[in-house]
Parts: sequence; structure tokens; C-alpha cells
Amino acid sequence: MNPERQYRLDPALDLAGLRALQLARLRDTLGHVYAHNAHYRAAFDAAGVSPDDLRALSDLARFPFTTKADLRANYPFGLFSVPQAEVARLHASSGTTGQPTVVGYTKADLETWAGLVARSIFAAGGKPGMKVHIAYGYGLFTGGLGAHYGAEAAGCTVIPMSGGQTEKQVQLILDFKPEIIMVTPSYMLAILDEFRRIGVDPRSSSLRIGIFGAEPWTHAMRLEIEAAFDLQAVDIYGLSEVMGPGVASEFAGDRSGPTIWEDHFLPEIIDPETGAVLPDGESGELVFTTLTKQAMPVIRYRTRDLTRLMPGAQTLLRRIDKIIGRSDDMLIIRGVNVFPSQIEELVLRCPGLAPHFEIELSRPGRLDQVKIQVEASPTAPPGPGEQSRLVALIKEVIGVTAAVEIVPPGYLPRSTGKRQHVRDLRARA
Ligand code: DLL
Repeated sequence: MNPERQYRLDPALDLAGLRALQLARLRDTLGHVYAHNAHYRAAFDAAGVSPDDLRALSDLARFPFTTKADLRANYPFGLFSVPQAEVARLHASSGTTGQPTVVGYTKADLETWAGLVARSIFAAGGKPGMKVHIAYGYGLFTGGLGAHYGAEAAGCTVIPMSGGQTEKQVQLILDFKPEIIMVTPSYMLAILDEFRRIGVDPRSSSLRIGIFGAEPWTHAMRLEIEAAFDLQAVDIYGLSEVMGPGVASEFAGDRSGPTIWEDHFLPEIIDPETGAVLPDGESGELVFTTLTKQAMPVIRYRTRDLTRLMPGAQTLLRRIDKIIGRSDDMLIIRGVNVFPSQIEELVLRCPGLAPHFEIELSRPGRLDQVKIQVEASPTAPPGPGEQSRLVALIKEVIGVTAAVEIVPPGYLPRSTGKRQHVRDLRARA
């Protein structure tokens, strides 16, 4: 069968049909984990609920949340709901501290995953036969292999480059002429630097579609990358605990926020303080329950990602708004909540600056101090007012006073995967 048809959402499905499908799959999932996983059985029993209590989708709110701490406490395989021998693959996310979080997939889970990444590639405008350059890291991280098998399922020609070796990335893009690139937006900027370093106009490259995710990135960054490469950039979202890339992805037509593949993942938005479910449209923490996973279904998994649910645009499936950040990335500077993505937005409003920056927080006396190093644009050097312009923007829009230092292009370290923007020296002080 043509893969575009094979992996799309059944076009005959209406909203009532979708909700009925979700309810049936949710019942199966709750029954499956209750029967086969000691952690979920104990957690449901402690909350006084059983899978039979689910009569409507809204009854899910009675079930307990699952958190990263639950995954850590059950390291490595305690959240699996099938015998280990049925697990066809493991992945793990490293995190910055402590144990990695381990996730597992049956053969059927891997097929579902590949199908949803293929669906994401088609939503982005990809077609069977196109060449896909994959620069997400291969290995325990879900980005590389997740994109890889999805692109294969989509009938594309896969170039499994992985992250790093930036000079070679550019050489292969120039030689193999892929139409599509899948990479973190921050590493795409490093690839852009390399095009410029060797004096090749990035707009002359074959790339027409960029499928970027794995970290928060702003609309301003999208415009920057689109203009630099003359391509269309879409946002792909996902997390290892729920599956990997392809939990939600954007349509090229409107690029108005990733559409959640709701036939496989049921989203909720909760108040992160109280855990109460919030109505669609309100901002809060994104929570997912998987509907079709076998090896490691998750029930009400708290992602810590902050966003809101929006109505469907191109399909009846709901969308998420661009993720502004994770609750654990939020910096509290002299009591003001600040996300690195807000700084990125403001840096990109200054034409003489490049979106490479590092925020350093310290507390030399009683007060937090913020120092931001930001690189000068390699193409349009900053004028004399650029530094004070950024200081004023940060004060006006975010409400904090920051010292800004403009550093030469290429001064700050580049990441080949997810970027680190913040050095917080306050805890050590
Ligand atoms: O980053 C999976 C992935 C790979 C998604 C490639 C997209 C592309 P983890 O390493 O488990 O999995 O990290 C998941 O990354 O909870 C978000 O905080 C963040 N994240 C992922 N995609 C986006 C996005 C992969 N499009 C965590 N926008 C998530 C903002 C994102 N944040």
C-alpha cells in the first residue's frame, strides 16, 4: 500500500468516532497495565481506582499521574508491561543527573512509532522517494533511530548521518542533495555556520523541508532558519517516555503548532501546582496517556512541558502551542520567571546579533545577577546601539536587568544535539 495512505488517520473518522476509538484504546491500556505491571497495580489500588471505573474519557482524571521519579524508582525495567523477552529495543534518556530513564518497545510498538514518524514526514510535505538527511544523534537517544525508521517507513531514501562532524554534514548535503533534513534547530544553526565558513550560499542547497525538534525553539528562530536556507521548517515534538519523536508534528500548510497524533496519545493539560485538569486553551503542564503502546504504556505521564491545547486545524486532532519551555528549565531571576526561549526571541529582534547565547546566573551578594553573552551576527555586524538595545528589550519585555556582552561570531561552544543555554552558578555560591 502507498505509505501515505497506510499511516494517515482514517479520513472517514469524525470527532465522535475518534473519541470512541480513544475510549476503547484507553480501556485496553488501563486493563493491560493493571494486569501486567506491579507499579501501576499498586498505584491504582492506592488511589482506589480500577480500570472498570473508566466509563468516559473524563474518568481518566481519577487515575494517578506517572512522573519521572516513578521511572527512576523502577529503574531499569520496572515500568514494562510485557515480559522482557518481548521487548525488541531499549532506549534511554540521559538527563543531566542521576540514573537514565529507560524505555522499551515491542516489535509492534516499533512499527507504530515508525508509522507515526512517517505520518509526521508526510504532514511536513515529504513524499516517498525523497532523500532525508538525519542529523539527530543515533544511539540511546530516540531522535536518530526514531527519525530513521520513520523515514524508511515513509518510503524515503535515508541518509543516517547522526550528529557531529559538521564539515562532513555539509559535504554530504552538497553531494547527496537531500530534500529533507531532520535535526535539532540548534544544530541546524551550526550547519548554517559551516555553510558560511566554506563560502557556500545555504539557499543554493537542495534542502526544502526541515523537521526540527527535541528542544524548545521560537517562531523567530523558525523565520531565521527558513530565510537562511530557503526551506520550510516544521516543529516535531516527542519524548522518550511517551515514544520518541512523532508524538505530535506540524503540517507544512499552516505551521500553526504540532498536531497531536491523538489516535495514539491522549493529551491533558493540568495545573502544575494542583494537578487539576484545565480546559482546552488554558496554559499548563502537558500530560500524556499512551493508547496503543504494549511494552511500556504510560498513564497520565507528566511531561513538565508547558503549553496549551488548541483545536484541530488541518485535521480534527488537537494541536499543542509551541512549547515555551519545561517547568524545570524555568529560571527564577529575582522572582521573575524567565525561559531561555524568551531571551532567544529578543536576541532575534536585534538584527546585528546571532541566536547563539549563554545566560550566566550568579549571586555575588544577596541579589541574582544575570550576564548574557551573545554572538555578533556573522553577516550583519552589530551597530554601536545593539548592546543597549538588547538590554532595554530584556528590561522592557521580561522585566529583569541583565548585563549583555557581545562576543565575536563562533565564540560560544556549539552543541551537536540539544543545546544548553544556561550556566547557573547560584546554587554553588
Ligand atoms: O527529544 C524526542 C525527539 C527527538 C523529539 C527528535 C523531536 C525530535 P527526549 O530526549 O526524551 O526526547 O526529550 C523530550 O524534549 O519533554 C521537551 O521538553 C523537549 N522537546 C522535544 N521536542 C520538542 C519540541 C526527544 N518540538 C523533551 N519543542 C520534551 C520543544 C521539545 N521542546
